[in-house]
Parts: sequence; C-alpha cells; structure tokens
Amino acid sequence: MKSKILMVCLGNICRSPMAEGLLFEKIKKLNLNMEVDSCGFESFHLNDHPDYRAIKTMKDHNIDISRHRMRLFRVEDFDYFDHIYIMDHNNYNDVRSMARNENDMEKVDFILNLTHPGTNKYVPDPYYGGASGFEHVYSLLDEATDIICSNSKSI
Ligand code: 4NP
Repeated sequence: MKSKILMVCLGNICRSPMAEGLLFEKIKKLNLNMEVDSCGFESFHLNDHPDYRAIKTMKDHNIDISRHRMRLFRVEDFDYFDHIYIMDHNNYNDVRSMARNENDMEKVDFILNLTHPGTNKYVPDPYYGGASGFEHVYSLLDEATDIICSNSKSI
C-alpha cells in the first residue's frame, strides 16, 4: 500500500518544503510507492513559494522546490497521511492541539527521531540566520529522508 508522508514546520517556506523536496526526489529515483506533501501553521506566507534561500540551497543540490506553495495544516491531514514528521517542539504542540484522539497522535513524530531515535532533537529554524543554516538543515533532512526510504524498502 502507498505510504503517505507529511512534512510539517511553522512557516512551510523553509524546512518542510526542503524535506518534501528531498523525499520527493528519492521517491522518484528509487521508484518507491510513497507520496509526500508539506505544510505549516503560520499563515503569514500563505500560498507563497519557499524562501529564496531554501530554493537556492536545494537548487545547489539539483532539487527544484520553487513551485511549492505554502499551505496550512488541516485536521483532515490526520486522515489522509500515514506519517506526520514535525521539525521542532512548537510544531509538535501545534499538531497535538488539533489531534482528535490517540490514533491521530500516533502518526506524529520528530523527523530527527529517524536519525537519533527517542531523543526528540529539533531541526533548527534557518529563517533568521544565514546560508550556512540552510545547508545544515539540508544535511539533517538528507539523512532523515534516506532512512524513510530504506525503511520503506525493507517492508
Ligand atoms: P520554516 O521557517 O518554519 O522552516 O518554514 C519559518 C519561516 C517563516 C516564518 C517562521 C518560520 N514566519 O513566521 O514568517
């Protein structure tokens, strides 16, 4: 069965579209039966394309995320998606505030628990920093999305 994955951050213009772009490329390359989307909680950039620094960092790695548009998390996402990966503790609390039951919350995890199980480490928000922050986010998400792919191949 197709595995549906949602990446979630605050603005949906930096971290989660980068995670979506990375996983999307790997799904295509490895021909995995999986789909991925991303969204956020802060409507300030609603319907905007990703931050230019996120687009550039991804382009430097030959991945185009320029067409993505910011959308908000909605409660129906709990029904559609199998796994909801959040970037930090604020995202965790935001998603939890909309969960209707335990089944909804069981789908939610820190994305860095893939690389550092059980530690609830966060992906730092690069929005107010420089380009090196985006590269750091890229490498964290590259490792985490590799694990999503290898887990899916072993099922
Ligand atoms: P993101 O970064 O959550 O990684 O997309 C942010 C981008 C914009 C804002 C917050 C976080 N903002 O409030 O505008």
